[in-house]
Amino acid sequence: MNIQSLRGMPDFFPDDLKKWHLLESTLSQIFNAYGIAEIRTPLLESTELFSRSVGNSSDIVNKELYSFLDKNQKSISLRPEGSAGVIRAIIQKKQEHEKHKLWYQGPMFRYERPQKGRFRQFHQVGVEYLGYEEGLSEFELISMLININKQLGIDQYSLKINHLGDVEAKKNFCTALKIFLEPHLSSLHEKDIARLESNPLRVLDSKEESTQLLLKDAPKFEDFISEKSKLFLKDLAQHYSDKCDITIDSNLVRGLDYYTGLVFEMVSEELGAQDAFLGGGRYDHLTTELGGKPMPAVGFAVGLERIIELMNVESSNVPAKVALIIVDEQDNQKTYKISHALREVNLKITLDAFLSNGSLKSQLRRANKSHCNFAIIVGSDERVAGKFTWKDLGEQGDQNLVSLEELLEVYKNL
Ligand code: HAM
Repeated sequence: MNIQSLRGMPDFFPDDLKKWHLLESTLSQIFNAYGIAEIRTPLLESTELFSRSVGNSSDIVNKELYSFLDKNQKSISLRPEGSAGVIRAIIQKKQEHEKHKLWYQGPMFRYERPQKGRFRQFHQVGVEYLGYEEGLSEFELISMLININKQLGIDQYSLKINHLGDVEAKKNFCTALKIFLEPHLSSLHEKDIARLESNPLRVLDSKEESTQLLLKDAPKFEDFISEKSKLFLKDLAQHYSDKCDITIDSNLVRGLDYYTGLVFEMVSEELGAQDAFLGGGRYDHLTTELGGKPMPAVGFAVGLERIIELMNVESSNVPAKVALIIVDEQDNQKTYKISHALREVNLKITLDAFLSNGSLKSQLRRANKSHCNFAIIVGSDERVAGKFTWKDLGEQGDQNLVSLEELLEVYKNL
């Protein structure tokens, strides 16, 4: 039987990747404009890194981690997200006292049930602001997200924000929620009973109708967070209300345990069930949880498979593409020489050297099919004249017989 790819792990062919390259270059251009530097961390980390950051009570660690024992019987895992690895790297380099603005990109792995917009290998681009207290950094990140959407031609979306308070507020609310739900355990789904034990906040996120019904009369999280936090949320919502559809959603808790402070998600109805195309928030206690020195932190990650569905821009400056057509086998040696010389004078042009012979007609057909703008032709006439044909493949179809020097000059100035 033929070997198939693993479920939820798609291949990307050149045509699929055109849009990806445009997305990736737009994002890196934006990060450059905000003075954010790239960081790369490994795909594999100790399993403990994720259980102590993303959290043992999260679905991501509980059910979705790709974990293995390595040859030394050490438990290692494919990263399900990028923040934990970045923080691990900063602690390892003892750089918690410095300020960092970092971005990263790459594949992430979660053993989820694949469906539209949900994969087991998917890609994120993330940004982390490290060493920055709550305040201006949140404003800058939200401004960046609005900018990203604008640059990508995305206008049908909304931004949901919430504040998870400080550790004390979170603890007090969880106790109150537990006391409230205790007499109703029989009407709670077993999933939510487990959540109530491991991370009561996640109950707010429940998809169960009966749970949501019960929650209507439950203590409200917003009654537990400080006035300062509430004001901060309101300020953010007000400040950006003319730039995007921004709402405070007190049920937004996010699926990762490390958050404190602001949390946010961008959603779009165009995506169907998996509607969140990016998410993030503040996580001020992660360095100390992982054994490092205190360092405030806030960031987000964009799901590339999802945002690409919404993207509505075309690449404006596609470089010219030139076909190098050698008709007869006896001229094959020329291919290497000419193509080397051409690429030496202009590396910005795509030179599609057809590494096989064939009739001029069939090779011109191939050049048109692969969207070449010009062709350099070497056939018997050219061989005899010691020249090349430079042919415009556009409507006019002009063509000239040129010397090697003339050809290099034209190519250089394309
Ligand atoms: P997250 O919400 O788990 O946050 O993931 C961010 C985004 O990744 C989601 O909004 C979604 O677009 C995409 N995503 C997640 N799972 C899948 C999947 N199975 N298939 C396709 N796309 C998916 C984080 O990962 C945090 N590390 C974000 C962060 C950075 N918070 C602070 N800094």
